[in-house]
Amino acid sequence: MLHGSRIVPVVVIDDAAFAPDLADALAAGGIPCAEITLRTPAALDAIRAVAGRPRFAVGAGTVTTAAQVDASVDAGATYLVSPGFDEAVAERAAHHGVPFIPGVATATEIQRAIAAGLDHLKVFPAAAVGGVPALKAFAGPFPDVRFLPSGGVSAANAADYLALPSVFAVSGSWMVPSTALAARDADTVRALSAAATAAVAASAPTR
Ligand code: 3PG
Repeated sequence: MLHGSRIVPVVVIDDAAFAPDLADALAAGGIPCAEITLRTPAALDAIRAVAGRPRFAVGAGTVTTAAQVDASVDAGATYLVSPGFDEAVAERAAHHGVPFIPGVATATEIQRAIAAGLDHLKVFPAAAVGGVPALKAFAGPFPDVRFLPSGGVSAANAADYLALPSVFAVSGSWMVPSTALAARDADTVRALSAAATAAVAASAPTR
């Protein structure tokens, strides 16, 4: 589903009760998924609130410990994302049979993730790591890896990343700004999601 969406929103939510409206707004804007980060006390309840929805893929983000893997899977997360790579987290995700997308910023980290059996990796922080030229460079020695750039991706540059054959989707928070979430402003999320969808519509289809 993330391949199909091509955009993965990075959500930092304080009110789990807003999660269903948020998911509806994202889906209405053409983005049928969300990575709900474990950066707030409400995160696991927010995942629970939208888990099991048809045609909507909810994942947990900022998963940095094996215990958080367990808690996320228990809440209903169907994939896990991390800012970095940690063997214990990867092993626990594999134990549950849940897809895990760790963050990488160097060739060494990519090699470690490949050694752990992973081939879908988040490049974080994508813009600071070097943006599109860095993604192009990583594709040379790692032709079988598919990347999810995150950190500094926006409506203005998402299509540039998605035009790379090695990029299966982009992620970021630009369609779920903290101001809109604080105001429970689903209309803004829907409008920004629709704009993001339009911005990437012209880019090459996922592979
Ligand atoms: C994150 O984990 O915070 C993401 O990479 C989002 O980054 P952004 O806020 O720059 O989109």
